[in-house]
Amino acid sequence: MSKFPEGFKWGGAFAAHQFEGGWDQDGKGPSVVDVMTAGAHGVPREITETVESDKFYPNHEAVDFYNNYKNDVKLFAEMGLQCLRTSIAWSRIFPKGNESEPNEAGLQFYDDLFDELIEHDIDPVITLSHFEMPLYIAREYGGFKSRETVDFFVKFAETVFERYKDKVKYWMTFNEINNKMDYSNPIFLWTNSGVSVEAGENPKEVMYTAGHHELLASALAVAKGKEINPEFQIGGMVSHVPIYPRSSRPDDVMLAEEYMRHRYFFPDVHVRGEYPKYTLKEFEREGLNIPILEGDDEILRNGIVDYLGFSYYMSTTVDSQVIADNKGDIVNGGLPHGVDNPFIKSSDWGWAIDPVGLRYALNRLYDRYQIPLFVVENGFGAVDHVQADGTIQDDARIEYLSAHIEEMEKAVNYDGVELIGYTPWGVMDIVSFTTGEMKKRYGMIHVDRDNEGNGTMKRSKKASFDWYRSVIESNGSEL
Ligand code: BG6
Repeated sequence: MSKFPEGFKWGGAFAAHQFEGGWDQDGKGPSVVDVMTAGAHGVPREITETVESDKFYPNHEAVDFYNNYKNDVKLFAEMGLQCLRTSIAWSRIFPKGNESEPNEAGLQFYDDLFDELIEHDIDPVITLSHFEMPLYIAREYGGFKSRETVDFFVKFAETVFERYKDKVKYWMTFNEINNKMDYSNPIFLWTNSGVSVEAGENPKEVMYTAGHHELLASALAVAKGKEINPEFQIGGMVSHVPIYPRSSRPDDVMLAEEYMRHRYFFPDVHVRGEYPKYTLKEFEREGLNIPILEGDDEILRNGIVDYLGFSYYMSTTVDSQVIADNKGDIVNGGLPHGVDNPFIKSSDWGWAIDPVGLRYALNRLYDRYQIPLFVVENGFGAVDHVQADGTIQDDARIEYLSAHIEEMEKAVNYDGVELIGYTPWGVMDIVSFTTGEMKKRYGMIHVDRDNEGNGTMKRSKKASFDWYRSVIESNGSEL
């Protein structure tokens, strides 16, 4: 018996910079991630000024999908994927970002890739910007601090919408546009927006300025896309980490509610086409000067999204007493009041494993927006143990994913949430975004490559490969 509605899309998700490699092939320009070195759990990735010859940049080669895509697509098809979410590396198309003409070789690569996918009955689902801004725009214009970057982005969007209008139907504008709400960690503003906060700048003001420009860019791209092909479905994409109150103490409940606005601000504008009152109050209260110009309200209203894609990996918990009790050094999920949830276990990277949180997230988002949702990332980053015979029994990953699919099924069939599909993250091992490691693996296909860049790049199936194939074949009833 099918568990999910007919037409539900089962797939897998990637980002160009985390799996393609080929960082300087065929005219591609360096992007903001091409100057990020590898870190580790608790060790931040360094952002260097330019590419330095004595440093290791894991995204330069990544897992070499660029030169291997035909074989990889064959494996994806064997796994039964019905759609594949990936991004178009902006700096493959506009190497510096401000050119008047695109790089034909870059456009051709995605033509070939989409043809290959479609030939294998896999629909491409495309994110326009997944941390791949051309480095030149970041360095010369300050990324989305500058309003000129809006025009560069819209030109890029228009170019790829025109080129792939008959090959791609589902699009998303910015990956996890709301990450930068945690501006205490420089990698989020850098990868989201190509922005570094300079001495003397108010980081919150910088974050909202870049955010405003990206919201405009997203809205203008949506409007342009609809002109090019009215059949396009263009979504926003946010990271959704529900925030629970530590206790029933009213202050905890209210604190969690307030922190949730960090999650909701960007999707509120994407979906409603206007700034929420709580943000306008914040600007007023804190004297934040955000360059919202006359006419911007109309741009936002004219570019609302068709659906909301989101990533879900974990929940987090806050306690209003943490700072009052002078335990202010406890930081969990980037929140100053964050604490561990005693009812939830965590992965080796400290990410809380909370399948019920996915059902909760689906309900909160659907109640708030009443538009279709798409779970475009979910997964378990873990170390794989390769057995002597080469097999990998990744039971913990299977357990994580099946528990999340079960909760998703309740959200659809019991709660009535409209859900387009499910694309678990990195179904083939790729470079981790936050740490730049290879050993934090999400895949159902193993890639022989280590943190230092050694290995043959050979692909092999893990136990989860067959498991996921049968989940898809049974439309979610065999978990
Ligand atoms: C999301 C990003 O934040 O989480 C992905 O959209 C990222 O790019 C994923 O890879 C998992 O994070 P990490 O750090 O485990 O790779």
